[in-house]
Amino acid sequence: MKTIIEPFRIKSVEPIRQTTRLQREGFIKAAGYNLFQIRACDILIDLLTDSGTSAMSTEQWAAIMRGDESYAGSDSFYRLEKTVQDLTAFRHVIPTHQGRAAERILFSLVCKPGQTIPNNTHFDTTRANIEVTGARAVDLPLPEAADTQARLPFKGNIHIEALERLIETEGASKIPLVMVTVTNNSGGGQPVSMANLEKVREITRRHGIPFYLDACRFAENAYFIQQGEPGYADLSPRQIARKMFSLADGCTFSAKKDAFANIGGLLCTNDDLLAGQEKDLLILTEGFPTYGGLAGRDLDAIAVGLEEVLDSDYLRYRIASTAYLGRHIADHGVPIVEPPGGHAIYIDAGRMLPHIPRSQFPGQALAAELYLHAGVRSVEIGSVMFGENARHELLRLAIPRRVYTQSHIDYLVEAILEINDRKHDLRGFEIVEQPQFLRHFSARFQPIAGE
Ligand code: F0G
Repeated sequence: MKTIIEPFRIKSVEPIRQTTRLQREGFIKAAGYNLFQIRACDILIDLLTDSGTSAMSTEQWAAIMRGDESYAGSDSFYRLEKTVQDLTAFRHVIPTHQGRAAERILFSLVCKPGQTIPNNTHFDTTRANIEVTGARAVDLPLPEAADTQARLPFKGNIHIEALERLIETEGASKIPLVMVTVTNNSGGGQPVSMANLEKVREITRRHGIPFYLDACRFAENAYFIQQGEPGYADLSPRQIARKMFSLADGCTFSAKKDAFANIGGLLCTNDDLLAGQEKDLLILTEGFPTYGGLAGRDLDAIAVGLEEVLDSDYLRYRIASTAYLGRHIADHGVPIVEPPGGHAIYIDAGRMLPHIPRSQFPGQALAAELYLHAGVRSVEIGSVMFGENARHELLRLAIPRRVYTQSHIDYLVEAILEINDRKHDLRGFEIVEQPQFLRHFSARFQPIAGE
């Protein structure tokens, strides 16, 4: 059969609310044209993020009932620890309330002012948790990845020559660890090849630098390796994921992505001394090391999710449905970051709306119009989010896992193509009010008046 179906049936449904364009005009105006400020009940299809928005399975809900809420030594922790160790082989498994808590603990221990952490592309919380220590977060994406239209496999790779140059100029002692994000979220959800990870392992070993994965979307990355990298077609996603983890000395992980959990994270390491320090810090702000800021039931949901996500039928459906969205809009003239990534499609709004200058936020203009036209929430990843540092003006459509069906995606394709047909009518925005920090969450905008 050519048709790839959702590999699940639906047992419990959550209604979504249709609104009229007139109602949406009122909602978005009251929100200052900032989609973070709109109430979720006023959204029809919510593609703001794939984080914490997954649908849990019957097995996960069953596991939630098994959750052991003991303060210390909970069975739920030992079930999670076993699952994570079977998958990653890391000696120490530390639960945290989400990914950024793992980042904060790790970087506050290993980073000092004047040091540098390289990554293929740092996620915003990763960068912020490094910079707050006085260290520098450096992105080393492939130079070819600057062209959103280039259809390269493993476009999420770290630039190996640039990494070697950086180690040469900074000195290994100034680099507390090298991190690689799989898949490369900020770089378009693009995968990283095993060959690239092996190269990083070889270089970091040679220089005595620890190598960490930001493993949020490890299973999607493993599937891309199975499909696209020579030599991996006969290995299962689990075997590939194991190999990816075996190359690293530790990882940070947000269970809100590839573990289908609504909350949770992990910090893993093979370093006994560091693990002790991490657990001390964990107790200060997260909780005892056998729950780390989570309920026992959350630990069980994560343990089950980590098994389910490596199912081949699920991963085939997941990557195919993201690609379906990408191909159906791109092949009809909407420029996306090519090729489609794992968890999201990124529209190159700067390229789609060349009549709107960067200073008037083309990504925000498209986000607002997609909400007004179809009730869909997306997120600008460009000059609103990153200010002067933005490399592109993108609009991210992140796909929650196991939540929306094919007809939701078809509706989305139709909406985007209709907007594309009259894209010249879209107008830019100006910021009328902004806070000092985190402006993309709460800045207020207004449309630039037409002639
Ligand atoms: N690393 C990456 C690559 C991420 O995408 C995220 C979160 C984190 C770390 C932090 O994890 O949210 O559990 O604290 N990304 C979400 C997103 C928020 O929408 O892309 P967290």
